Amino acid sequence: MMPPRIIPPHLRCKPVSVLFVCLGNICRSPAADGIMHSLVEEHAVADCWTIDSAGIGGWHVGDLPDKRMRVHARRRGYELTHRARQVREADFDRFDLIIGMDAQNIDDLRHIAPTPEAMAKIYPISRWMGRVASPYDYVPDPYYDGAEGFENVLTLLEDALSALLSDWSTL
Ligand code: 4NP
Repeated sequence: MMPPRIIPPHLRCKPVSVLFVCLGNICRSPAADGIMHSLVEEHAVADCWTIDSAGIGGWHVGDLPDKRMRVHARRRGYELTHRARQVREADFDRFDLIIGMDAQNIDDLRHIAPTPEAMAKIYPISRWMGRVASPYDYVPDPYYDGAEGFENVLTLLEDALSALLSDWSTL
């Protein structure tokens, strides 16, 4: 018998849930969140992915991403509409992967993780970086930088998140 032409999503995709984390949840992690949403839509696999972002700190809870981040992202076709929130212990139950943008984020996440199983879900974004030439093995905080800092964040994230999507079967 011929296979059905339209494969139901639950048969063709392995569900995965990803939480991106940075310090304030107004620059890097909402950009990662927006880029990843855009990538999975482009590849018609959005039904299989749960994507969110959060911050280590709570200073900006409820805020839209930083205006500069939104402007630079919009120029590349990403509309960033996430509202900032703080990471909570329950996130370690809800998500398969918790991805920090730099070494300090990873250290802070390890302190928040309630169990060894939760700790095992923490990954540095650097795991998926390095496919474009760059001096960075983390995504640097652009908050006190000029325009080039925000562009750098987007370039590094576009590269890393395409690699994350390619690695889907191994997640
Ligand atoms: P993010 O950048 O961690 O990429 O969102 C920051 C935004 C705000 C602050 C620090 C980093 N802050 O201290 O308010």
